[in-house]
Amino acid sequence: MPKVGAAAGFTDDLQLALYLCYELNYTDVPELAGISEWDPDLVRFRQRLEAAFEHALREAAAPVRGSRSLREDIRRLIADDDGPSVSTHMESVGTRAEMIDFVKHRSLYQLKEADPHTFAIPHLRGRAKQILAEIQSGEYGADAPHRRMHSTLFAETMTSLGLDARPNAYLDELPGTAMMIPNLISLFGLNRTHRGSLVGHLAVFEMTSVIPMGRYSRGLARMSAPTTARRFYDVHVLADAEHEHMALDMAIALERDEPQLHDDIIFGVRCVLLTERMFAERLFAEWAHRRRMSIQPAA
Ligand SMILES: [Fe+2]
Ligand SMILES: [Fe+2]
Repeated sequence: MPKVGAAAGFTDDLQLALYLCYELNYTDVPELAGISEWDPDLVRFRQRLEAAFEHALREAAAPVRGSRSLREDIRRLIADDDGPSVSTHMESVGTRAEMIDFVKHRSLYQLKEADPHTFAIPHLRGRAKQILAEIQSGEYGADAPHRRMHSTLFAETMTSLGLDARPNAYLDELPGTAMMIPNLISLFGLNRTHRGSLVGHLAVFEMTSVIPMGRYSRGLARMSAPTTARRFYDVHVLADAEHEHMALDMAIALERDEPQLHDDIIFGVRCVLLTERMFAERLFAEWAHRRRMSIQPAA
């Protein structure tokens, strides 16, 4: 079994290995044909990768002293987040090539949007379980007139931008920070012990969606992208205006039923903000590098 270094939690290699282990839960992985997601060696390896990832998360997302009001703590953590904003960039100055690059990065999660959170439904009880199931049915389009899954809408965004919408079509060219977005949710969703963090994670996802989704849609309009490219973002502006309230209620319901999970819920909140910041910083660094290379005078 390959070695897993204790300090390797955020590296590209670890994130890719973990991504492939998880991916067997969601789709066919040609490189792992014939291996079950329940293969004991694979599960053991996955657990070692998860331990290193969680160690890195706990080092980087240290506990904070909160007000002990979950509603206030979550809102304050979101408001205090000052990570770089990809959506603001896309709305104002981003190029079509950068938008396409961003869509490729996001495809590792968005083509299976909602599925990693859905694994947590059996891990919850009572009102929190009901709200999670209701949010997820919205993600799968069951409550919308168009009946289209959000993952399907994202695939249509990809196709209308000239991209390949098959799962993992761009995996080879993407960094670990892109894999970390779905990996974090799979870590929380597949392990019952992380149910509090999973709920905190989804609360932030839903509560930070409406404004950025509107910016992406306006950015695509500015880039003269077709309407079908914008539909995924437009649908989220409407759907998440409801989901953001439901998701916060879900977190509060979970804390009411299992008060000992308060810190886990907050840990989930901090992990989303951290991984989204890492995702954006890497993307901006890559674009800055490309701009520098493109203005280098010929030798
Ligand atoms: Fe969605
Ligand atoms: Fe949503």
